[in-house]
Amino acid sequence: MINHINNKHFIEGVSLEDISQAHPTPFYVYSQSKITSTYESLKNTLDTEIFYAIKANSNQAIIKLMASLGAGADVVSVGELERAITAGVSSKKIIFEGIGKTKKDIAYAIEKNIRLINVESIDELERIDKVALHQNIKVDIGIRLNPNIDGKTIDKITTGKKTDKFGIDTDQLEEMFQILKDLQNVNLISISCHVGSQIFSINVFIKIFQKMKNNAQIFIDKGYSIKHVDLGGGLGVKYQENKEALNLKLLKEELNKCFNDTPYKLSFEPGRYLVANAGILITSVITTKNNGGINFLITDAGMHSLIRPALYQAHHEIEAVNKDSNEFINYTIAGPICESSDIFAKNIGLPKQKVGNLLVIKDTGAYGKVMASNYNSRGLPLEILVNNEDFVVIHQPLNVKEFIALDQIPEWFN
Ligand code: LLP
Repeated sequence: MINHINNKHFIEGVSLEDISQAHPTPFYVYSQSKITSTYESLKNTLDTEIFYAIKANSNQAIIKLMASLGAGADVVSVGELERAITAGVSSKKIIFEGIGKTKKDIAYAIEKNIRLINVESIDELERIDKVALHQNIKVDIGIRLNPNIDGKTIDKITTGKKTDKFGIDTDQLEEMFQILKDLQNVNLISISCHVGSQIFSINVFIKIFQKMKNNAQIFIDKGYSIKHVDLGGGLGVKYQENKEALNLKLLKEELNKCFNDTPYKLSFEPGRYLVANAGILITSVITTKNNGGINFLITDAGMHSLIRPALYQAHHEIEAVNKDSNEFINYTIAGPICESSDIFAKNIGLPKQKVGNLLVIKDTGAYGKVMASNYNSRGLPLEILVNNEDFVVIHQPLNVKEFIALDQIPEWFN
């Protein structure tokens, strides 16, 4: 995403140096052209409908961009549903998933007349029918299946094994069909699954395709008119130069092989794939120190700005903006939060750095800002979108002081 020209760091036609003069670190920068080209090449290769999983990056401007490119939205809460609608995603291109939908959530989704509600349990199926009956409407639903497939990805982001909490266990289908027979206010037209995130193995995708095809046939044989099969998200993203990218062409070949004569439409719901490589997090060095022989660079971004390294031991490449020194040092890059898990990278070689220098934490467009917090009351990072020669702030968080609201502490507190 970064082009190096005359010792400057460019995102499209804007230099990082210019952005950092205008705004305090830490901040995220996204490239509009990178998101656009990634979306278009994915869409052209897969040639299926795409529902952007907005949990990956739910900034209004990013959702709006996806909508303008033609993407639908996969949402998992009323908050995300509101965001998608506000950003201009047509309600008929919104799918509502999520493991914990209350009656109120369901009522809201029905009111908004969205494409589908994907059902995650038999209990929820009955709840949707009741709410729809109350609203005197018949609502289109899909069944999220738990296909019992190991996504061969890290445990914390695997979702498709029998023992995971997601989807309806395919062993419970008979029981579900019995219950469904008596429900008058739901119209079953789709099945879906999502096996996990960061999947690179084509064999895992082949298993997903075959299982979903077999399951669709089970539903069709039962008399349901399945119009749509959603194959989930999870498309793997390259975070390291020396790693192989997901082979999308091969994925498409396998998709065609499996579904060449089927009567329903296919879709995917990727999040990470569309935005991860289109974002970077910029941070400043606050302190340099050596403890026990380890050279630390303490930065103003931390696990409160990007939690992936602390939570999943996720790898993000880090580049120093200032490369003036000929002396190379092995650094551990750590945030300012009072936890030892607040580390971005250990033992990486960089030209010698000093206080105030900028570092770029790469490929942070997905699950970065959306998972940031106010931990240690440090406040949230700013977000900036670059488009050609221009850049614009697309999210300006409230200042920490504004949410302390000391004047609202009740008198009895003393
Ligand atoms: N569909 C459903 C039902 C999902 O639960 C997810 C992600 C997606 C689609 C999009 O998956 P993707 O294409 O982005 O892999 N916070 C973690 C990732 C959690 C993913 C949760 N579900 C991380 O930072 O790695």
